[in-house]
Amino acid sequence: MASDAEIFASFSTKDISPSVSLEVCNRGFLSACVRVKEVSIMLAARRLTWARVRSAVAVMAPRGHSLPQAPRLLNNAACALHTRNRTAWQKALTAEEFTLSQTKPGTTIAAVNLLQDQKMLQVRWEDSSVESYPYIWLRDNCQCPNCYHPFSQARRVMLKDLDLSVACVDVKVSNAGEGVKMLWADGHQGTYDAHWLQERAFRGPKPEPRDRECRLRQQLVLHDDHALLTFLESMEVMGVAVVSDVPCEKDQIYSFAKRIGRLKSTPYGETFNMQTRMNPNNLAFTDDCLDMHTDLPCLAAKPEIQMLHVIKEFPGEGGETMLSDGFTAASKLKKNHPEYFDMLAKTLVDFVDVGIEDGVKFHICWRAPVIDLDVGGSIRTVNWHQMSRDSRFQVSSSEAAVKWYSAAFAFRDLLYDADNLVELKLQSGDMIVFDNLRVMHGRQEFCADQGERWLQGGYLEGDSLRSLRRVLREDIAA
Ligand code: OGA
Ligand code: ZN
Ligand code: ZN
Repeated sequence: MASDAEIFASFSTKDISPSVSLEVCNRGFLSACVRVKEVSIMLAARRLTWARVRSAVAVMAPRGHSLPQAPRLLNNAACALHTRNRTAWQKALTAEEFTLSQTKPGTTIAAVNLLQDQKMLQVRWEDSSVESYPYIWLRDNCQCPNCYHPFSQARRVMLKDLDLSVACVDVKVSNAGEGVKMLWADGHQGTYDAHWLQERAFRGPKPEPRDRECRLRQQLVLHDDHALLTFLESMEVMGVAVVSDVPCEKDQIYSFAKRIGRLKSTPYGETFNMQTRMNPNNLAFTDDCLDMHTDLPCLAAKPEIQMLHVIKEFPGEGGETMLSDGFTAASKLKKNHPEYFDMLAKTLVDFVDVGIEDGVKFHICWRAPVIDLDVGGSIRTVNWHQMSRDSRFQVSSSEAAVKWYSAAFAFRDLLYDADNLVELKLQSGDMIVFDNLRVMHGRQEFCADQGERWLQGGYLEGDSLRSLRRVLREDIAA
């Protein structure tokens, strides 16, 4: 299979449908088009984070226009990229997706006035509405190349060089009302685009504030089918996805679960609260480090998808979440140490968990290899749980036991290898959703004396998510 870089290196502006290219050229929007291409290539090379990609899209819309579909376009493109589906990727860049919205009426400046006492620029728009912009704000946000770097969207002018009493000596309306040119007392000049100014009006409705755009994908998961589909697809392909801004209240996990799938209950309940307890029946309820693991390999019907909702992030140091792709580690093991891979795939291990939860006794155990293969030899599941692995080990000899340990340690090293390990401090409101049969998770130790840490967890049936993913795809295509 061709690598991402090869796939996308062949892209050119021609790949965007001819009518759009023409329209783009006619209006002088070629740069927007080229930027889409640049962004796609950078994305392909995985050199950009999502935040950076979204910023790039925000700047690539030509003056006076916006690309309302940009977040969806890129999300679709990202999914296509994950699945290495070139056709889908191209579809994501089609004309329909790439329509530019026109400048809204009222964006032209009719007149300007310097309110020297108040140190404000007063702008009268064509529709007679008036807006004032403070000098200090204007100087701070000068858009000239010395003061602002458009591609990285970074302010270059330094706070130490700004003066609250900055004085403006002259202002002119430029280009038939499309902008204003300010001349500052120190001789610096800056031009401000009318649309740019209007978007930043201090009073009145504020169209699409930037921070909302940056968080679009996360906030809309529960309300927008496209966003939900993107979420489900990324989770399935990557093994993990995080939704932020879920209200920090107990049992929010139920509404979340209802929207994306069907809960699967276990002896720990339909959902469970991870808080330190006085008499913990599981290490989860202590402040100890939790070695990387998959949850409940001691069940025959293992929970497939896990959700963890952070109701209260830990205020002190520690308690970080660790994630590692068990399939990547297993594939590397197969490549580097095929004999170890075989050992972990063929040796049955007992996992057991005995306890009492909510007054009900349970005793669950299951026997499975660490690497569970399907008939075709592909990895179906990884089972890894140091805490509940039975000391009774059903291998044929003590020598065989030692060999198994060598293999298990090689696997452990790959799991904890910096290339494969992600460590993140989840924040209040985060909901992390991951494939419990593939992605290992763990927790760094923390000190319960330093404050409260509260996570509510639950499991979902994988089939319910995959079903919804197919239904949404079909509905959206229809
Ligand atoms: C668990 C677990 C994670 C955490 O209890 O199985 O993975 O962050 N807990 O407490
Ligand atoms: Zn400047
Ligand atoms: Zn766990």
